[in-house]
Formats: sequence, structure tokens, C-alpha cells
Amino acid sequence: MPQQVRGVISRAKGEPVELVTINVPDPGPGEAVVSIAACGVCHTDLTYRDGGINDEYPFLLGHEAAGIVESVGEGVDTVAPGDFVVLNWRAVCGKCRACKRGRPWYCFDTHNAKQKMTLEDGTELTPALGIGAFADKTLVAAGQCTKVDPQADPAVVGLLGCGVMAGMGAAMNTGNVGRGDSVAVIGCGGVGDAAIMGARLAGADKIVAIDRDPKKLDWATDLGATHTIDASSTDVVEAVQELTGGFGADVVIDAVGRPETWKQAFYARDLAGTVVLVGVPTPDMTLEMPLVDFFSHGGSLKSSWYGDCLPERDFPMLVSLYQQGRLPLEKFVTERIALTDVEKAFETMHRGEVLRSVVIL
Ligand SMILES: NC(=O)c1ccc[n+]([C@@H]2O[C@H](COP(=O)([O-])OP(=O)(O)OC[C@H]3O[C@@H](n4cnc5c(N)ncnc54)[C@H](O)[C@@H]3O)[C@@H](O)[C@H]2O)c1
Ligand SMILES: [Zn+2]
Ligand SMILES: [Zn+2]
Repeated sequence: MPQQVRGVISRAKGEPVELVTINVPDPGPGEAVVSIAACGVCHTDLTYRDGGINDEYPFLLGHEAAGIVESVGEGVDTVAPGDFVVLNWRAVCGKCRACKRGRPWYCFDTHNAKQKMTLEDGTELTPALGIGAFADKTLVAAGQCTKVDPQADPAVVGLLGCGVMAGMGAAMNTGNVGRGDSVAVIGCGGVGDAAIMGARLAGADKIVAIDRDPKKLDWATDLGATHTIDASSTDVVEAVQELTGGFGADVVIDAVGRPETWKQAFYARDLAGTVVLVGVPTPDMTLEMPLVDFFSHGGSLKSSWYGDCLPERDFPMLVSLYQQGRLPLEKFVTERIALTDVEKAFETMHRGEVLRSVVIL
């Protein structure tokens, strides 16, 4: 029997979100229904609401979540009812060319649930990033459920499901930061600060945090930045070079995703250094630069999808490091809110007052 639960939807472009009743089908083959315990409010949810992803309204928002598997469909043997899981938005297929070449983090055919959740009148919902977890329960592909230690706080470890993993992975996986490296991170929101935390975990020596908001620079320092640059009043490229003996950083991570920040990242790096673009540009943005600069700087220009993570490999490991006190994941939870407060949380986020508001269910 389909269940009726509460869910936060976005019905039309730019309109405030609404708390409504939704229908969640029983899990079909390869699917699971998860009872949500906590779900972080990510910038991408706001981008969905504002039409920046696509126009497949109504959206069921929320995607940085942890919860308990309630039921599973036919053929599911990776999780079982009662398992505590963090949801992920890249359940790899194991069959596509990327998977077969041994690079599953690039999987070109990731899984979501096949059935649709609906409004009471039968209108099909589009779950944000194939998850839709601002809801009491949601339907996902079983591969989107990653088992982690049930002792962990769901509000904290649910954040691994998107922004924190994207940032940490941008440093550790895509940027391949190593012991003694110098790293600069442009944009110190949830994603940039997670990149700082990842760089620290990977053994970076200098970690330079760059933002236009002094409060963000304080938080970045708390998460491991060794130096800060206020981008509203300082030349970012010169300041990074000054802090790195005139060379530039080994790895520069752009966690804003605009042409001007990417250019700063490009020029703030040492010869043969690495640029990682993890901030998401909009389709109208373009870049014009002398081609010879690409040639003469050498090195590597990369982008990072979900931090090139493998949830099965990375989530349990990061939860374990958090539980040992080696990863201050709890610092990302600025406030805990109710399901009725998602719209208010968008405003707080917009004013730059939080790293993450987390809905507790
Ligand atoms: N690649 C992925 O898989 C992935 C996953 C999640 C999020 N993201 C993207 O990462 C980006 C950051 O997300 P977030 O949640 O941290 O957002 P956020 O809004 O919390 O943080 C952005 C930060 O950048 C700063 N900033 C803006 N313009 C700046 C500039 N010109 N110079 C310096 N600092 C500047 C802001 O002050 C803010 O602190 C977004 O584009 C988001 O869509 C990417
Ligand atoms: Zn694949
Ligand atoms: Zn997100």
C-alpha cells in the first residue's frame, strides 16, 4: 500500500516552498523506502526552487539526508529494513564504460528509483537529485543507500550525502592533495570549508581560505585554514603568491564557480599545479583567456562531480574518522530546524548566516 507522508515541494519557479501530503509507493525491484531522520538544506535545493536546474516542477526538495531503511523491493540484498543509511545521489551502475574501465566515480548511468512519488491528486514529483528527503519517508534506488554506523548523529553524517563530500572529495580525490602541499580554496561556504577540512586531513601544509565575507573566513580558520584572504579588499592572486613564497599554491579549489573566481584559481596556482572546479557555473557563463597561458602554466585543470566520491568506500570511512574525533563534521551543523522551516532556512542561507541548517524529522 502506498503511504501518505509530509513532504516539502516547490510547485513553481521562485515561489515559496510548501509542506504538503505526498504518496510514497511501496518499493519495487531494486528500490527502498527510507524513513528520514535528518536532511540538510543545500544551495542546490534553492537552485531547484528558482528554476536553475530544470523546469520539471513540482520538485520534492531535500537531498543531504540520513535515515533508516523501512522496506526494500525484490532483489535488494545490499540493505535491509532497520539499516541506518546516508543517501547518495550517484548510485553507480557497474556496467557503463566508465565503470568497466575501473573509474566508477565517473559512472555515466547512475540509478534512481523507477517509480514516482506523487501529490495526492496523482501529479508526479521530481525528487531533488533523485532523492527528495524533506519528507518523512522517501523512495530511492537501493544503491543510493549507504550503510554507516548507526551510533552516528544523523544530522551530522547526513551532510556527507552532498556538500561536505563534494568539498572534501574535491581536495582529497580530485585535487589529490598530499602531505606538505599548499592549497587555496576560493569560496568558504559548506563546500569550500569541507575542502579545507579535506586538505587538512590529507596533510596539506598551507591552507589559504578566500572569501568576501569575514565571518566565513573565521569559520574557515576554525575548520583548518592556516591563512585567510578577504577577496573584497585584496588581490587574490597576488595574496596567494605572497603566502606561498612567490610561487602560488599546488592546488587551488574554486568552490564558487564563476569565470572570475576560476581565473583567480588558474593564476593563483604554481607552475604545473592543479585547479579543481567544484562550484557549479550556470549555462550562460563563458571564459576568455590567452591560450598560451594554458600552455605555459602546465599542470592540470579538473572539475569535481560529487568530489569524485564512491559512497560505499568514502561514507563509512569518514563517519569513522568523525567518531574518532579526527574530523569535525559537527561544525557544519549551524542550526537544527523543523520541516516547516525550509523556506526560512533558504533566507538564512541567502544572507550567509549558516554553513548548514538541518531539518530534523
Ligand atoms: N560539484 C559538486 O558535486 C557540488 C556539490 C554540491 C554543491 N556544489 C556547488 O558548490 C558551490 C558552493 O556551495 P556552498 O553550499 O558552499 O554555497 P554557499 O553559498 O554556502 O558558499 C559560497 C561562498 O562563496 C563566497 N563567494 C561568493 N562569491 C565570491 C567571490 N567572488 N570570491 C570569494 N568568495 C565568494 C560566499 O561569500 C560564500 O561564503 C555551489 O556552486 C554549489 O552548487 C557542487
Ligand atoms: Zn556506470
Ligand atoms: Zn547538495
